[in-house]
Amino acid sequence: MTQARADNMTQDTNVELMDRNLAMEVARVTEAAALAASRLVGRGDKMAADQVAVDAMRSALNTLHIQGRVVIGEGERDEAPMLYIGEEVGAGNGGPRIDIALDPLEGTDITAAGGPNALAVIALTDEGGFLNAPDVYMDKIAVGPSIDPNILDLDAPIADVLAQVAKEKGGSINELMVCILDRPRHEQLIADVRASGARINLIGDGDVSAIIATTDPDTGIDLYVGSGGAPEGVLAAAALQCIGGSMLGRLTFRNDDERARAERWGITDLNKIYTTDDLAKGDNVMFAATGVTDGSMLRGVRRYPGGAKTSTIVMRSKSGTVRRIEATHNLNRKNWLKSI
Ligand code: FBP
Repeated sequence: MTQARADNMTQDTNVELMDRNLAMEVARVTEAAALAASRLVGRGDKMAADQVAVDAMRSALNTLHIQGRVVIGEGERDEAPMLYIGEEVGAGNGGPRIDIALDPLEGTDITAAGGPNALAVIALTDEGGFLNAPDVYMDKIAVGPSIDPNILDLDAPIADVLAQVAKEKGGSINELMVCILDRPRHEQLIADVRASGARINLIGDGDVSAIIATTDPDTGIDLYVGSGGAPEGVLAAAALQCIGGSMLGRLTFRNDDERARAERWGITDLNKIYTTDDLAKGDNVMFAATGVTDGSMLRGVRRYPGGAKTSTIVMRSKSGTVRRIEATHNLNRKNWLKSI
């Protein structure tokens, strides 16, 4: 057999194995992280909440029959002892080679404070499918599937973009709701959006869930804009690839160290504007998230003596299926859950 044919066969096997079964397995991974973090909701210790979520996600990941490689993770090896970028995870066993973007606890401050929209998140794709985004900020703008992606623009005045969104929706700017992270760096942006007449939903944290919220008319969010974490940008793009919607992202750098970090990840054009496809290639993406605290997309973990309930969303870009899984966990019967 030629090498090219062998490579093609490996690729086909990968595609086949990234299937429904894996989607169910992946739900267990985010459930485990969310269950673990839920013990620490509102306890004021974000580091501890993150750590238990990392531990639980890593243990669950290592039961999957994949040869996984973390490409978006807890940080670089020297700063993250577990789920660091480049770490190999999964039970291997000849399983498919898969790249993984993860955030065991998206919204560490939210969890510590018991606020809304904290999630355990993971996305999987074929090797090389995710942008190797360094942990720097990214300017982002995102809309749901009913809006033409071509109206997105990171450099145009926000009032012009909002006028286009209003036109697409057949309404006026005054009716639009724009979601923005409440940060001093967004002072001018917030003023400009207000001057345009649009309404604003200012959030404390959690832009993965905020970007996904643009895809669901029930949330009332029409546009997400602002600067947040680049890794979170890749995770949000993975979700949009599955559920529909589009975003643009551009890395921003505060110093030479951050620029060097990007270059280390092979990024040569530091000003590049990334589309959804550039951030998470479309053909074979899988995304799962479990609510830690109540949010616009998912209910948080409910704990009661001996058990817990979780809400999870799993999506696949290949089929476009969006599956919601409401699970009831008997903490006394599952060994792996006892310690969570
Ligand atoms: P953590 O889970 O790491 O706390 O991130 C929460 C978050 O709000 C992200 O959703 C967002 O992308 C990023 O922080 C924004 O960063 P900053 O808090 O530095 O503005």
